[in-house]
Amino acid sequence: MKRRNSKNNLLILVVTTAIVLLVLYLAMHFDAQLTSLILSIQADKIAQPPKIIAALQLVLFGILAYIIVRALNFLVFGMFRLRRGFDAPTLVQNVFSIIAFSLLFLLIFSWEFPNANLGALFTTSAIFGVILGLALQDTLGNFFAGISLQADRPFQVGDVITVGTQRHTGVVEEITWRAIKLRTFQNHVVLINNSSAAKEPIEVCPRDNLNARLVLFNTLYTDSPAKTIHVVREAVREADNVSDRITPIVRIRNMGDSGVEYECKYWLSDYAKYNDTDALVRQRIWYAFRRAGLNFAFPTRTVQVERKSAGIRDADGGAIVERLSAVDIFAPLSVEETGMLAQAAVRHVFAPGETVIRAGDDGSSMFVVHNGRVQVQISENGRPRPVATLNEGDFFGEMALFTGEPRTANVVALEETEVLEIGHSAMKSLFDTNPDLVESLSFIISERREGLVPQVNAAIASPDGSAGILSAIKRFFGIS
Ligand code: CMP
Repeated sequence: MKRRNSKNNLLILVVTTAIVLLVLYLAMHFDAQLTSLILSIQADKIAQPPKIIAALQLVLFGILAYIIVRALNFLVFGMFRLRRGFDAPTLVQNVFSIIAFSLLFLLIFSWEFPNANLGALFTTSAIFGVILGLALQDTLGNFFAGISLQADRPFQVGDVITVGTQRHTGVVEEITWRAIKLRTFQNHVVLINNSSAAKEPIEVCPRDNLNARLVLFNTLYTDSPAKTIHVVREAVREADNVSDRITPIVRIRNMGDSGVEYECKYWLSDYAKYNDTDALVRQRIWYAFRRAGLNFAFPTRTVQVERKSAGIRDADGGAIVERLSAVDIFAPLSVEETGMLAQAAVRHVFAPGETVIRAGDDGSSMFVVHNGRVQVQISENGRPRPVATLNEGDFFGEMALFTGEPRTANVVALEETEVLEIGHSAMKSLFDTNPDLVESLSFIISERREGLVPQVNAAIASPDGSAGILSAIKRFFGIS
C-alpha cells in the first residue's frame, strides 16, 4: 500500500514537472506574443506586460522550486534512512524543506525582479513582523519546543511515553512542528502540544531498553512462599514477550489482611505490548496455581477456634507417626510410644537458606527432617564447610540434647524444609522405658563426631568414644 502510494506520488511529481517546464518554455519563448496579447486585452493599459509575465514566471519557477525541494528532501532523508535504519523526524524534514524553499524562492525573486529592494522590504515590514510574531506566539512556541525536543531526543518514534499529570500513555507515532502524536492502547490518537510537553514531566520507556512491569497477586497464608515464588517464576518466564535476558523476580510485597501479597516483576521484549503481556502473565499465574494446588486469597474472615495442643494433633498426625517410626533410632519403640512421641513433636517450617540450629547455642531438643533437606556445616576460617546433608527421615540436634553440650555445628535448610522438634522431656520418658535407646544414640553421636573437623572433634570428643558418651547421656538424663 505504502509502495503504491509512493509510486503514485512519483508519477504526479514527474507529470507536474513536465507541465510546469512546458508552460515555462512557452512563456519564455512566446514572450513577445504574450506581451501584445496582454496589451490587446487591456482597455486602460495600466498594467505593464513585462511585470505580469515576470509574476507568471515567478509562480511557475516557484512550483518548480517546490518540486526540486521535494526531490531533495526525498534524496537527503532517503539516504538518512538507509544509513541510520530509521526515518528522520518529521519536524527536521519540514524545517529543511521550508529553509530550502525560502532560499530558492528568494533567489528566483531577485532574478525575476532585479530592481526590487528586498532589504527595504524586510526593514519596512518590522512592525508587520511584530504583529505577526504576537499572532503566532503559540505556534512559534510549539515550533521551538519541538526543535528542542528533537535536539534533546529524550524519546523517539516507537517509544512508549506517559506525559504530564493527566498521564496520557501511548506509543509515539510522530513528532511534528506542532505536537507529539501518541497512539494510546485503546487505539486513540492523542496530540500533545510541544510547548505543553516541554513543561510537563514525561516518563519514557525506550523501545530498545528492557522495561519492566509489576503484576500483583496474593495467596492464602497457608500457602508456602518458597513454593509460590518458584511456581510463579517458572510459569511467567515462559510467557510470550517476557524477556529471557532477565529472570522474573517474585517477592512478597506485604502481609495483607486477606493473604500474603506478592509482586511479580518481569521484563518485556516489546514494551508497547505490555497490556497483553500483563494479562497473559496473570493467566499463567492462575493456571500455575491450579496445578500446584495454591490458592488466591480473597477478602475473608476466618474464625479459628484454637485448641491448646502440646504437639501435633491435626489431620496430618498419621504422617508424623509414619515419619517417626521410619527413623532408625526410634525403630525399637512400640506403636503407642511412637504415637506419644508424635503428639509431643512440634512442627516448624524453614525457608531455603534459613538456619535451624546455630553452632555454639544451647539446645534442649532434637529434630527429624519431615520434608525437605538440610545441610550440616561447620565454620572453617570464617567460611561454612558442609559436613553432611540430611534428608527426609534423618535427624539432627541430638548431640546437644543428649550431652548438654553446646551445638556442634550449624544446620541450614537447603530448600523449604519442615522439621519435627522433639524436646528433652519427651525423650526422657522414652529413655525410662527403652534403656537400649541410649546405647544406639551414643553410638550414632560418636560416629558423627568423627565426621567433624579435627579441631572441633578434639574439643568435644570424649576420650573413650561411645562408652564415654553413653555415660554422659545417662548422667545428663539421670538414668541409672
Ligand atoms: P548438635 O551438636 O546438637 O547440633 C548440630 C548438629 O549437627 C549435631 O547435633 C548433629 O545432629 C549434627 N551433626 C554434627 N556433625 C554431623 C555429621 N558429621 N553428620 C551428620 N550430622 C552431624
